[in-house]
Amino acid sequence: MSDSPLDYLLTRRSVKFVQAPGPSADQLDLILRAAMCAPDHGATRPWRFCLVRGAAIPKLLDIAIEAGEAAGTPIPAHKIEGSRRWLADVPLMIAIACKLDYSSKIPEHERLLAVGAAVTNILNAAHMLGFSAYWSTGIGTYLDGVGDTLGFDALDYRFMGYLSIGTPTSDMPTIERPDYQPFVTEWVPAE
Ligand SMILES: Cc1cc2nc3c(=O)[nH]c(=O)nc-3n(C[C@H](O)[C@H](O)[C@H](O)COP(=O)(O)O)c2cc1C
Repeated sequence: MSDSPLDYLLTRRSVKFVQAPGPSADQLDLILRAAMCAPDHGATRPWRFCLVRGAAIPKLLDIAIEAGEAAGTPIPAHKIEGSRRWLADVPLMIAIACKLDYSSKIPEHERLLAVGAAVTNILNAAHMLGFSAYWSTGIGTYLDGVGDTLGFDALDYRFMGYLSIGTPTSDMPTIERPDYQPFVTEWVPAE
């Protein structure tokens, strides 16, 4: 690794399986302050975060299981088993939502993008502090009632899933990323 601060961005990767220690109170403060620095049209600050820690974490899955059953779309047993194993060691989950505002001139998609930017800041800040994180829209994110249970009633919020944050359970190599060239064009006006 070189000494460029960009090395942090270039080496971030999502890591699902994490364990304690999670961020300390001071580190979490920094991580959430980074979220507040996200770009945000109209300064609407539409991001909302609900911290879920320790013994509360496995209960998220119980809520999702109940919601799946209530919707007539039970979560398959193997998925429940996998999620239980995943969540057992996670020290911190951050549930993510976007505050909607039907009277705002800022379109909903821009609010959602601002939340995505805030979450990206969290992912990068966690990585810079030596933690790993992972954004998931599992655990019943799209099932009725799950977001409501976390304080994000569906009328006022779009529930956008969870971040798990902690220390990786094993050494994770950095990922080789694709070349950006095919994703970039340059527009030159006709003379
Ligand atoms: C909004 C959003 C939701 C996601 N939900 C899931 C998910 O439910 N399950 C999953 O395996 N990956 C999910 N991912 C992808 C992972 O968080 C991660 O980005 C992916 O594994 C690629 O890893 P990388 O971030 O290191 O490139 C989601 C990503 C985003 C942006």
